[in-house]
Amino acid sequence: MHAIATRRGSFLGSSMRRWLSGKPPRILITGGLGQLGTELAQCLRSKYGNDNVILSDNKEAESGTSGSGPFIRCDVTDFDYLDGVVKNEGIDWLVHFATLLSAIGEKKVDEAIRVNIGGFHNVLNLTRKYNLRLFCPSTIGAFGPSTPRIDTPDLTIQRPNTIYGVSKVHVELLGEYYHQHPEYQVDFRCARFPGILSGNTLPGGGTTDYAVHIFYEAIKRGRYTCYLRPDTRLPMMYIDDCIRGTVEMLHAPSDQLKMRTYNMAAFSFTPDQLVKELQKYVPHLKVDYVIDPVRQKIADSWPESLNDSNATRDWGWKHDYDLAKTTRTMYDIIMRNIDKDK
Ligand SMILES: NC(=O)c1ccc[n+]([C@@H]2O[C@H](COP(=O)([O-])OP(=O)(O)OC[C@H]3O[C@@H](n4cnc5c(N)ncnc54)[C@H](O)[C@@H]3O)[C@@H](O)[C@H]2O)c1
Repeated sequence: MHAIATRRGSFLGSSMRRWLSGKPPRILITGGLGQLGTELAQCLRSKYGNDNVILSDNKEAESGTSGSGPFIRCDVTDFDYLDGVVKNEGIDWLVHFATLLSAIGEKKVDEAIRVNIGGFHNVLNLTRKYNLRLFCPSTIGAFGPSTPRIDTPDLTIQRPNTIYGVSKVHVELLGEYYHQHPEYQVDFRCARFPGILSGNTLPGGGTTDYAVHIFYEAIKRGRYTCYLRPDTRLPMMYIDDCIRGTVEMLHAPSDQLKMRTYNMAAFSFTPDQLVKELQKYVPHLKVDYVIDPVRQKIADSWPESLNDSNATRDWGWKHDYDLAKTTRTMYDIIMRNIDKDK
């Protein structure tokens, strides 16, 4: 067993001490070499200084992937090692991204339980021990087939049928439990992200990955085979909005957050609508559909659109990118990256 300090009985948290002394927070990002981590690190480093934002992952960073600041190889299932990193680096805020996503989680259920649930327990225990601020995203995958699918509210039925979804409901409930508990009052913050679209980083095995892959295939080959039905409508968001929203929620004064798990939404589309938008840039694009039953079943169990009015009310969340702006931006970035690689 690890000794855990309670918030009530403890000295001032390191985060609070640094805040009072006017110093920027020291931030650790776990699972940081995936689709979202490097982009978030870049944004936080420009705000707080390169050395104050430490990217970590259980795999080694290839040259250039960890950006302009420190990188530490660290597996979130190894409590003692993670404890050493948090302590030695004087971490104040922890952004927990290390996860197996929906499609890959269904292929590796035991590992998903170890990483998504076991890893989160470790992170939560360290949050308690060192009085950290913890941001851990959830997902539309935390909903399930019995959830109302249109304009899905924050508080509703959550009976997901993937291990990814089950682990995220566990994250939401356990984080909120330790936040509400008078003895612990953990500063837990959680946003449910929709599928994230990005031009500079690739997705890591989720159900919405098609919406990024299609850009590469369209530009390189003019053809794409989509694994979801053309009418599968899902909520999505451009990465710049996701990163900005994450930083805004990280920053929000604690008493402004009336809830601890918020939907974050932008826009929704079907593969067919994305193809039509992309054909404005690649008119010869041809798409056929070979349905993957596993990912289709997952997509069919998720909301078509989210209600994020509580996030707007409490911490001012508002998306900027719609489908047209996202498609234009993604196309430009991926074209540039493909040209560079030639
Ligand atoms: N990308 C999306 O569309 C999306 C949507 C909703 C929610 N989210 C959430 O955002 C967070 C980040 O997602 P992402 O898309 O960057 O994921 P990703 O799959 O691209 O990256 C996850 C990273 O975690 C690392 N990892 C795996 N096991 C680990 C372990 N034991 N220890 C340390 N690192 C480990 C992987 O190497 C990988 O680099 C996740 O919590 C995810 O659930 C993402």
